[in-house]
Amino acid sequence: MRVLITGGAGYIGTHTMLEVLGAGHEVCVIDNFCNSVPEALERVKALSNRSFAFHKADMRDREALTHHLQDFKPDAVIHFAGLKAVGESVEMPLEYYENNVQGTINLLQAMKAADCTSIVFSSSATVYGNPDFLPITEDHPLRSTNPYGRSKLHIEEMLRDLATANPDFTAAILRYFNPVGAHESGRTGEDPNGIPNNLMPMIAQVAVGRREQVRVFGNDYDTPDGTGVRDYIHVVDLAKAHVAALDWTQSHQGARAFNLGVGQGVSVMEMIDAFAKASGRDIPFRNDPRREGDIAQCYADPSRAEAELGWKAAIDLTGMCETCWRWQSENPLGYNAKP
Ligand code: NAD
Ligand code: WQD
Repeated sequence: MRVLITGGAGYIGTHTMLEVLGAGHEVCVIDNFCNSVPEALERVKALSNRSFAFHKADMRDREALTHHLQDFKPDAVIHFAGLKAVGESVEMPLEYYENNVQGTINLLQAMKAADCTSIVFSSSATVYGNPDFLPITEDHPLRSTNPYGRSKLHIEEMLRDLATANPDFTAAILRYFNPVGAHESGRTGEDPNGIPNNLMPMIAQVAVGRREQVRVFGNDYDTPDGTGVRDYIHVVDLAKAHVAALDWTQSHQGARAFNLGVGQGVSVMEMIDAFAKASGRDIPFRNDPRREGDIAQCYADPSRAEAELGWKAAIDLTGMCETCWRWQSENPLGYNAKP
């Protein structure tokens, strides 16, 4: 299959490229490197031993997208490109709507012009807001509490509208829970700019000595140990789900959402303990107040993805921590500072 991947140089994109190339598909990547670096794609090339097309282009540039899609003629698109920091989205809502929503409209127009009717879209568990019940099924009410989450909801709704309007259109809407971990080679991983917002890269940077301590945001939640509980999923498991979703788009119609999680809640303290074991390092931490907008618990019912995509997460918490530690310890400053 010919697969166009937007945002392929990013954290989830690089790991997905490795799986998609490994499955034998032809790949063309579009990225503007606003949150990634060319070195990430070089490593994908080296690890996969495969070549792929790449265009530096911005999702806000409809003309460029139309040109590249008409040229490559994809059978399907995997759409990662977008901005993803919740706090930043509150400060800069227009940038989020422009990159995420307008960028997706541009992509969908370009797909139409290139006669491509299949898309795999990166949505997020954030579309469930503060959950009414656990584990969260795909039928849980949708809501969001910040512009980032609303941009995902708007895109999901556009995809459902398109599927209603065009019976040939197919969208696999993948709602990721908390992606963590790295490729087993230690060559690709998460490389956030500045101070990490997310727990796992923060723990990893503390373990490697880049930061002093982890701030635990809240230890008075109604959870077994008082700290926040999430459904962490290994990025390689997540990447494999995209290959399954690509196959699914070739034999189905309509827009369908799938939860991608392990189905198990892990607390902040459990994650710190598991990482300390996997790395053999001390992880100093201090208890801080709750972070605004955080919820106590969030974990998936991933059974639909297993039943309909034939996909199930396989890597456990130890594997998540070990691979993340390999990446972090072998690339303490990320991609641009080679050991
Ligand atoms: P990332 O920032 O590492 O990757 C996104 C990639 O898209 C980057 O390479 C960036 O340069 C590119 N990009 C962004 N805006 C662009 C634009 N306007 N034009 C061209 N390229 C652009 O993020 P990620 O963690 O790999 O996430 C990928 C997708 O998954 C995003 O849509 C994100 O919202 C979604 N998601 C991520 C998480 C998570 O925790 N990482 C959870 C749920 C959903
Ligand atoms: C996990 C837990 C924190 C950092 C976010 C987005 C979500 C999705 C994934 C894109 C929580 C605690 C964190 C720290 C801490 N992204 N924590 N100290 O908030 O579940 O989800 O990323 O779609 O939309 O909101 O992930 O990793 O930030 O937090 O104690 O330094 O770790 O309070 O309980 P979150 P996270």
